[in-house]
Amino acid sequence: MSSNTASTAITTAELSAFARDVLHGLSKTPKQLPSMYFYDERGDQLFQDIMHMPEYYLMNCELDIFEQQKAQILNAIGLEHFHLLELGAGDGYKTRVLLRHFMEQSVDFEYQPVDISPNVLLELEQRLREELPELKVHPLPGDYFKVLHEVKETDATPKVVLFLGANIGNYPQERAAAFLRHLQDELNPGDKLLIGFDLKKDPDVILNAYNDPAGITAAFNLNLLERMNRELGANFDVQDFRHWESYNPVTGATRSFLVSKKAQHVFIKALNQSFHFDAWEAINVELSQKYSLPEIESLAREAGFQVEQHFTDDQGYFVDSLWVKA
Ligand code: AVJ
Repeated sequence: MSSNTASTAITTAELSAFARDVLHGLSKTPKQLPSMYFYDERGDQLFQDIMHMPEYYLMNCELDIFEQQKAQILNAIGLEHFHLLELGAGDGYKTRVLLRHFMEQSVDFEYQPVDISPNVLLELEQRLREELPELKVHPLPGDYFKVLHEVKETDATPKVVLFLGANIGNYPQERAAAFLRHLQDELNPGDKLLIGFDLKKDPDVILNAYNDPAGITAAFNLNLLERMNRELGANFDVQDFRHWESYNPVTGATRSFLVSKKAQHVFIKALNQSFHFDAWEAINVELSQKYSLPEIESLAREAGFQVEQHFTDDQGYFVDSLWVKA
């Protein structure tokens, strides 16, 4: 690097992953930020609030599916002995319904929650030790695919992978297919995947889930601006932005935007750079893709899985779909 200037230019190598992704996303047209950065401490708390809102039907639907169909799910899994590996375990609230049932049925299984955050896993493990002391828990901290690859190399026990809560919805459909194909590559024939999808439905129901009257989702999304203020020394004035939700009933794309209410510059200290927003310019902050059952079936095929069974709630809002690697 040249040593003859007083420039404070920052090379991307010196930046945190967050700073780098912000630089990349705010330099794009249209502007875009990855939804994974919603989840700092404040974001985790707001996400918990979202999960408990009556409008956020996804949570209740998946819980109903597990409570009402846990016996059918176990029956469809049909394995004598397996490892239950959950991608992005979170607080394990819904999963506990399955875990408890499997234990009551004396199923020979071990629960392997996978998460990038060792703290999340530690808390989950502690809670499970209290609530289900007999459960065999073996947390696997790390990147999903690194963990899956490691498991594939070292352990031939049949696996059931859980990927719940419509987390797959954060990927655009092509990337969802690539993600699931990669996942399939790391499984052995006969291994299974139980995956949650949010289904296409009355657009009003979908919009209400992401545009709640109490403004919890708005606060959740706007927290991303506050996080940049806190962690990157940005000077976003949250009042100058608003949350906007859209649903496209043709494609199923449900998108969250943060819209600049006026023309403005925002300075980000960690990047030593300011970013211009036109009046009513939007940042694309989240995709929550909705699917039809036929779309789910073709996604499974594309990724090299066979669909074994769909488990839907009474209203047909949500599905947990059981797939097998042929
Ligand atoms: C956790 C990705 C499934 O997209 O429905 C909830 C996140 N965002 N409300 C979703 C979310 C706004 C959620 N996922």
